[in-house]
Amino acid sequence: MRALDVIAKKRDGGELTAAEIEFMVRAYTTGEIPDYQMAAFLMAVYIRGMSRRETGALTLAMARSGEQLDLSALPGRKVDKHSTGGVGDKTTLVVAPLVAAAGVPVAKMSGRGLGHTGGTVDKLAAIPGFRVSLTQEEFLANVRRIGLALTGQTGNLAPADKKIYALRDVTATTASIPLIASSIMSKKIAAGADAIVLDVKCGSGAFLPRLEEARELARTMVDTGAAVGRKTVALITDMNQPLGYAVGNALEVEEALATLRGRGPADLTGLSLALGAQMLVLAGRVENEAAGKALLTDLLTSGAALDKFRELVAAQGGNPQVVDDPGMLPQAQLKIPVPAPSAGYVAGLRADVIGRAAMLLGAGREKKEDEIDLAVGLVLKKKVGDRVAAGEPLAVVHANDAARAQEAAALFLSACSIVPQPPAPRPLLYETVK
Ligand code: URA
Repeated sequence: MRALDVIAKKRDGGELTAAEIEFMVRAYTTGEIPDYQMAAFLMAVYIRGMSRRETGALTLAMARSGEQLDLSALPGRKVDKHSTGGVGDKTTLVVAPLVAAAGVPVAKMSGRGLGHTGGTVDKLAAIPGFRVSLTQEEFLANVRRIGLALTGQTGNLAPADKKIYALRDVTATTASIPLIASSIMSKKIAAGADAIVLDVKCGSGAFLPRLEEARELARTMVDTGAAVGRKTVALITDMNQPLGYAVGNALEVEEALATLRGRGPADLTGLSLALGAQMLVLAGRVENEAAGKALLTDLLTSGAALDKFRELVAAQGGNPQVVDDPGMLPQAQLKIPVPAPSAGYVAGLRADVIGRAAMLLGAGREKKEDEIDLAVGLVLKKKVGDRVAAGEPLAVVHANDAARAQEAAALFLSACSIVPQPPAPRPLLYETVK
C-alpha cells in the first residue's frame, strides 16, 4: 500500500477501507510516512469528511497505535471526562477532585492547549512543582491511593493522536468532526475508562461553532464509545463567551480553586456540577443527575473537594500550600484594565477572539515547540448580560510585555459588543446526547 494512493482516494471523495486507515496511522506513528504526507491526508479528510465507519476505523487505529491502559485492577467503575476544547474551560480542575471526593476514582489523561483553546496540562503546569507527566505505574498507584490522577499524554498511549494532534494544530485541520472525534475517543479508549462523559462545546470559541455540527460530533463520539463497549454521554454546552472570568493558565487555576471553595462563577460551577453528576450516574454512585448534583454541592460546601485537590497537588509533587495561597502561582508584572468604550449591556464576548488575545500574550502556542507564559492572560470583569458604564473595566490584561498587552487589549475590545438593551439570556447547556 502507498500513502500517495490513500491520500488521492480521500482527496477524490472515496471511502477508505479500515486497512487503508490502519496503514496510514501505523506508518505515520512509526515514522515511515513523513509529516508532509500526513498533513495532505489530514487536509483531504478535513475537506472531504469521513463516514461513520471510517471515523470508527480511524479511532480504533489510533487507540491501538500504542499501549492501552488496563484499569480493571482499580476498584469501581472508572469514568473519564473530556472537553472538545474551549476558552477559560477549567472544568477538569474542578470536576476531577469533586468526583474523586464523591468516592468515584478519576484516572484522567489530559491534553495541552490546541489553537486558541487552553489545555488542562498547561494549567496544571502553573502549579509550582506539579508533575504533569506521570509514569503509568505512578498514575495507577495515585488513583489507587487517593482516587485521582491527572497526567499529560505520556508514555505510549495513543501515540498516533499525540503526533497527529500537534500536526493538526499547525496545518489548519483542527475543526473537523472525524478528526476531533477520533482524537478524543482514541485517547479515552486507550486510557481504559469504563464510561466517558464528553463536554461538546458549541459557539464562537468552539472548534465547531454551529449547534448542528456540535450535535453531529457528539453523536459520532457517543456511538463510537458504544461500539467499543464504553458507555458515553455528551453534554452540548455554550462556548460563545469564555467559561468563568479567567483566561490564562495560572489565572484559571486560581479561579478553579475559588470554585472548589464554593465561591466560583455561576457558569463554571453549574457546568462542573452537571458534568460531575453525569459521571456519578455512569459510575453507578447515584440514581440520577439530581442526586448527583446534590451530593457534589455538599462536597463543594464542606471543603472535601478542595481537600482532594490539595491531596492531588501533593501526590504529583506540587506545593499544596498553593491551595490556600494562590499568590504562589506565577504572577504577571503588568495588570492593565481595559475600559468600556460606551455604556450599555454586554451582548457578546467572542470566545475565539479572547482566546487569541490570551495567545498573543503568550498563554498558548503558535508553533508546537513554543514555550508558554503561565502567568499571562485576561480576567473578565463583565460577562454577557452585565450592565457596564462608559470607562468601567471590561477586563484586566495580565501581561509581561507592554506592547503585547496593548495589542491584546485592542483585540479583546474587538471581541466585545455593547448594546443599549439587555440581550436575551442564552442557555449554558443545550442538549444531552446519550
Ligand atoms: N481535544 C482533543 O483531544 N482533540 C481534538 O481534536 C480537539 C479537542
